[in-house]
Amino acid sequence: MRTTGDAPVTVRRLSAPNDFRAQLAADVAAGMRATPKQIPSRYFYDAVGSALFEEITRLPEYYLTRAETEILADRASEIMRLVEPDELVELGSGSSTKTRLLIEAMRTTGGSRYVPIDISEAALREAAVALCSDYTWLEVEGLVGDFHTDLRLLRRRGRRLLAFLGSTIGNYPPAGRAELLTTIAATLDDGDALLLGVDLVKDVPTMVAAYDDTAGVTARFTKNVLDVVNRELDADFPTDEFTHVPRWNAEQSRMEAWLRADRDMDVHIRALDMTVPIAAGEEIHTEVSCKFTREGITAELGAVGLGPVAWYTDRAERFGLVVARPR
Ligand code: SAH
Ligand code: AVI
Repeated sequence: MRTTGDAPVTVRRLSAPNDFRAQLAADVAAGMRATPKQIPSRYFYDAVGSALFEEITRLPEYYLTRAETEILADRASEIMRLVEPDELVELGSGSSTKTRLLIEAMRTTGGSRYVPIDISEAALREAAVALCSDYTWLEVEGLVGDFHTDLRLLRRRGRRLLAFLGSTIGNYPPAGRAELLTTIAATLDDGDALLLGVDLVKDVPTMVAAYDDTAGVTARFTKNVLDVVNRELDADFPTDEFTHVPRWNAEQSRMEAWLRADRDMDVHIRALDMTVPIAAGEEIHTEVSCKFTREGITAELGAVGLGPVAWYTDRAERFGLVVARPR
């Protein structure tokens, strides 16, 4: 595909669409047999889920995006001077809105290639086309894929800055994070760098409010995962008869999202040939959003051979951005 600019934009799949449905089927089958029941949050992001996430980023309660944008607005040039990348690769890029600050700064240090990777094809395609028409000098190679399994398929073009923003790393518990950070570290050569965004531990009411907005957008976002399962696996979860329950788990330093059934029900998942009885009040676990400290994330990076070379926060110290390199 080509748009009006000089540089090309391509969007291609790294893995087959069937892999996605097969993985969803396996995860839902296992999740419905688990205690408590669970559905992984990576399935939140169909076209509707991605659009709802964008709405969340604009909510007054959801400070994360504004705080990270503040840091990038202040520090993008400094980060680019530090790394001088030829290419910017971004995991879970979504709308790539904040990334524009990095892309603009990258131009001044000579980089000209942007590789966004996301499982949400709708979000990725829209972002790639818009970036290509706004930045005619930029080569954009959008990759529809899963950053757990597909990073080894990346082609390298010079020095790489790998951005993983938004505290999406926090959507994985410690063991999953260690695995993902190991995969990420393996894609970095000498001179490359990781730019990682992490939401920091703060007062509980602020964190809870970010996941319990008064407009109810986060509730719609969370419940959308049931619509994804209904559509993809021919199931009949009554989405409107679940209540979104956000909860702070102090022991694990994380926000959790749960969906509580409002009544007794039998859910049929036809693609799995499965009937799932769910009792009134029973909760399905759908998401963790872990909150970090500087020391904690430094140790996690160190464990996979990455050493921090810069650490930034917004002025209110709500959010952290770390630049780390292979040691
Ligand atoms: N980086 C953006 C978007 C964060 S939302 C920001 O900071 O605002 C999380 C994004 O990660 C979504 O776009 C979602 O589709 C994507 N995502 C979630 N799990 C993924 C996976 N396993 N592989 C690739 N992308 C994933
Ligand atoms: C993408 N991720 C970091 C968001 C978060 O804060 O955990 C997703 C989200 N869930 C509810 N609101 C936003």
